Amino acid sequence: MVETLTGTDRSAGISYNEILDADSHPVRPILRVDSPLEPGPTVVDASIYYSREQHELEKEKLWKRVWQMVCHEDDIPNVGDAFVYDISSLSYIVVRSAEDELRAFPNACLHRGRSLLHENEKKLHLLRCPFHGWAWSLEGGLKEVPCHWDFPTVSAETHSLESIHVGRWGGFVFINPDPDAGPLEEFLGDFADNFTLLPFERRYKAVHVAKRLPCNWKVAQEAFSEAYHTVATHPTLLGTLGDANSKYDVFGNYSRAISAHNVGSPHITSERYDNPYMEQTPFTKQRHELTGDVYERMEEGLVKVTTTDDRTGYFDDWGRYLDGDQFHADIHLCNWVGGRLAEGMEDEPGNVYTGTFAERREKAGHERRESLRSLLGDDVDQISDAELLDPIYYSVFPNISPWGSFNPIFYRFRPDGDNPEQCIHECMFMMPVPNGEDRPAPAKCHFLDLEDDYIEAPELGALAKVFNQDTLNLPFVQKGLKSLKQVIFANYGETKPRHFHHQLAAQLAK
Ligand code: FES
Ligand SMILES: [Fe+2]
Repeated sequence: MVETLTGTDRSAGISYNEILDADSHPVRPILRVDSPLEPGPTVVDASIYYSREQHELEKEKLWKRVWQMVCHEDDIPNVGDAFVYDISSLSYIVVRSAEDELRAFPNACLHRGRSLLHENEKKLHLLRCPFHGWAWSLEGGLKEVPCHWDFPTVSAETHSLESIHVGRWGGFVFINPDPDAGPLEEFLGDFADNFTLLPFERRYKAVHVAKRLPCNWKVAQEAFSEAYHTVATHPTLLGTLGDANSKYDVFGNYSRAISAHNVGSPHITSERYDNPYMEQTPFTKQRHELTGDVYERMEEGLVKVTTTDDRTGYFDDWGRYLDGDQFHADIHLCNWVGGRLAEGMEDEPGNVYTGTFAERREKAGHERRESLRSLLGDDVDQISDAELLDPIYYSVFPNISPWGSFNPIFYRFRPDGDNPEQCIHECMFMMPVPNGEDRPAPAKCHFLDLEDDYIEAPELGALAKVFNQDTLNLPFVQKGLKSLKQVIFANYGETKPRHFHHQLAAQLAK
């Protein structure tokens, strides 16, 4: 790894703090805090994304020794409910052993090793191994051994289940298998201070989608961790997202990226920003904000591209040339316009904001404020446009990313079993529990496999289209890494992956 000094250069676009200055409402000081990364790696070996050696090291030094989220408390509401948590080739169970008590154990029978549970269970009285019937109490004490006379050395003293540290934050359940682990509260530090407007305790899991991806878990996580990729991967967002002028901060074991909404990318010219494409429809007709070319859906898998000098080309949803006198097209915009659509997307009307960025933000902030008034009462009048509109993307080491303020998105990335080149991306929507109502039951996990399109989870809404763009890159990243020695991160714009590698290196060196 190469150590570099923190970069001090920033995008020439308007800064996030200047955008906050134009907010129509007072801004909480926590948003303005500048906490750039101290010296840390900008370069890491490409092999850490595919080598078996790294995978084994992470198993021993990371997953066996770090605080990690397992599930939500709502997933195990009753005494005896048990959740099976698989990470890498390891498996643990979390059990609600009493009304307000959670226990965690390695998911392995102490007789001959069978997984005690192979799926989540409800209202168990005992943890009983299906192989020969050994059984433990929900607290882990050995209760029963068939033909116990045949195991003279086995007793509750010697063969009770080994308890693992359990922690709770915001309604989520965490474990740390390291017997010497410090408390979760210490690990998270002041993280909760970022969520005081709508704490996670007031939310429930309304959506849960998991998708298997053909890449290392770090490749996937890093692909979501910076706004730098927006210019190439999400051209559809350039008109409404401050990407290159995003703000990045690190704090102990967590980091954040804030990108201004309704501002427009510094990459696009003011001429184009001031003249929005009025014929635009969200999913079927879009102008590429850098080139000015217009992409139009003819049918699924067929996109017509009209250039600014009136040439026309036809492409499939992977940007492959089919016909016409324009020979190249943007793969991600072809994917957006020509890829699969969920029901109703095709007919969604265009929605083009005009005016200055401050006017756009005030208008959108007002709409959002009113939509939250029934939930939060007149407290909404104290909330800035920034916290109502801007994607604030937190990452807690090693692998969860709750979005800030009123954005319900919550990600987790983890290895898929023992395969260093496959991972699971989870997206949950943590929605507020309506006032005066009981907590709704948590959403069941909707699992999508390698070949599935995110659009098969219509509960993701437009995010499914965004994820398709993101994950379109991933198998090619995984492939390309094998022909590369090192990857390099931007000093500032890739602060978050740099911070992650800083934390990872420290954890693996312990
Ligand atoms: S392996 Fe569990 S009882 Fe034998
Ligand atoms: Fe993305």
